[in-house]
Amino acid sequence: MTTTQTVNKVKFIELLRSTQRKGIEETIGMLDASGFFNAPASTKFHLNYEGGLLEHSLSVCRIAIMVRKQLIAIRPELEVKLPMDSVYLITLLHDVCKAEIYKRATKRRKNEQGYWEDYLGYDVDYSDFPAGHGEKSVIVLLQSGLELTKEEIIAIRWHMNAWDLPFQSWEATSSINAARAKTPLLGLLQAADGLSANVIEETQS
Ligand SMILES: [Fe+2]
Ligand SMILES: [Fe+2]
Repeated sequence: MTTTQTVNKVKFIELLRSTQRKGIEETIGMLDASGFFNAPASTKFHLNYEGGLLEHSLSVCRIAIMVRKQLIAIRPELEVKLPMDSVYLITLLHDVCKAEIYKRATKRRKNEQGYWEDYLGYDVDYSDFPAGHGEKSVIVLLQSGLELTKEEIIAIRWHMNAWDLPFQSWEATSSINAARAKTPLLGLLQAADGLSANVIEETQS
């Protein structure tokens, strides 16, 4: 583990503990055992290196805190609907579903001189627990013993719908619309996740 990864891990655990949420120690233990702290954030896209998922989660958290502040400046009544402990939990834990899906693999790429070369990359393997993306995150968190509010569950469950809405069934679309109406945590997580992955983070391959 690099120094940056160690610093990020300490910060991440400190923020989770600050929520004092029931089950948080068990969840931290589960994350350690699942490989969360060493996992990349993707294979080819954002932060595709060891510790990338941890870095992405902290980045989403940082952006969400900034966006939350501005939202409350515009609409002060939103403050009670965007509690800080919920913001920490949904941002830091929204992608725990990715913890064990990336497996080290030798890949091929063209180097700067135009020659093919081997490099150590990642393959994706969903076979252990193919339960979906947001769905799996929620399930593994609850299984670890973490207590989550309905609003937090909804935000984590539907955080990807900004990308895959056209493929949802009518029932899912209705549920997403109800989820948006139920909690602004969903919109906050989607915005912070999108800004982090698409604007802030860089690809390295
Ligand atoms: Fe995600
Ligand atoms: Fe994400």
